[in-house]
Amino acid sequence: MLAKIEELLQEVNSMTARNAEELEALRIKYLSKKGAINALMADFRNVPADQKKEVGMKLNELKNLAQERIAALKEMFDNQDNSTEGLDLSRTAYPIDLGTRHPLSIVKNEIIDIFGRMGFSIAEGPEVEDDLHVFTMLNFAADHPARDMQDTFFVESNTEDVTKNIILRTHTSSVQARVMEKTQPPIRVICPGRVYRNEAISYRAHCFFHQIEGLYVDKNVSFTDLKQVLLQFAQEMFGPQTKIRLRPSYFPFTEPSAEMDISCHICGGEGCPFCKYTGWVEILGCGMVDPAVLDACGIDSKIYSGYAFGLGVERITNLKYKVKDLRMFSENDTRFLKEFESAY
Ligand code: PHE
Repeated sequence: MLAKIEELLQEVNSMTARNAEELEALRIKYLSKKGAINALMADFRNVPADQKKEVGMKLNELKNLAQERIAALKEMFDNQDNSTEGLDLSRTAYPIDLGTRHPLSIVKNEIIDIFGRMGFSIAEGPEVEDDLHVFTMLNFAADHPARDMQDTFFVESNTEDVTKNIILRTHTSSVQARVMEKTQPPIRVICPGRVYRNEAISYRAHCFFHQIEGLYVDKNVSFTDLKQVLLQFAQEMFGPQTKIRLRPSYFPFTEPSAEMDISCHICGGEGCPFCKYTGWVEILGCGMVDPAVLDACGIDSKIYSGYAFGLGVERITNLKYKVKDLRMFSENDTRFLKEFESAY
């Protein structure tokens, strides 16, 4: 009898069923009134008294195991709905929604492509930066308003020595400082990335946005080189008929500095509400790298000169796609994002 019980224990342990009918057959085989286990129970009275304890225990073990296994299999079938009734299995599947590239990425890639063709490579740097690379090395005086709480997010501020502050970078010019610190000319890089400024969020300002800054340092780099590269960029980005104009401006790290406008790509320079009837729209800041900055970064300003420029990716995207509200870029509204499905 013990041998028979052992044999059934093994069987029960390894039993499987492919569907509810097979499971029911197993239940009948082992657990029904006329099942194998009940038959053994009936035989139990013939077991010699001295073996009753051992055999009884084994028999109980078998019964419990069979009940557990069958309950477990039943649960498995109950949880899975195998019925295909009412389903048309020949129907085409739901189309899988493909994601779209974010408009800012589309424009960023386009800008990188254009400058890439002109020989610029990409340089990246940290978003959490020290004051040294964001301001000090770029010729910002210790009391320059851009260091003010109004504009800068502080991670760790040091009241005794502002140059030890840890901040969120306010422009990607910090990457230029890092590149110049490590590399000797010729340097020709663009620095794309996210920057942060402590501004109230509205349709025209956000506390973070994206920039691409360019830097070219070599022997005999002149303002003419800068102008030609920017004209080339403007025409590739906004069309071959695009004109540019440079207006004098001020940045601590460039001298001379300028802001660049392009002829309004909507009215072609005739004047319209978009360009406020001026025929021009501003797109970037630029200038010749201040010799003091080159020296602070370990590049000999007597031998080398360079130019730099910086543009906002949101600004260019707004111009290209006429997005009226900056906040759309970070709200992840798929109705907005899907409009860019056909762009690459
Ligand atoms: N870093 C400047 C800004 O954030 C832009 C700039 C870059 C201007 C390089 C001149 C040269 O506004």
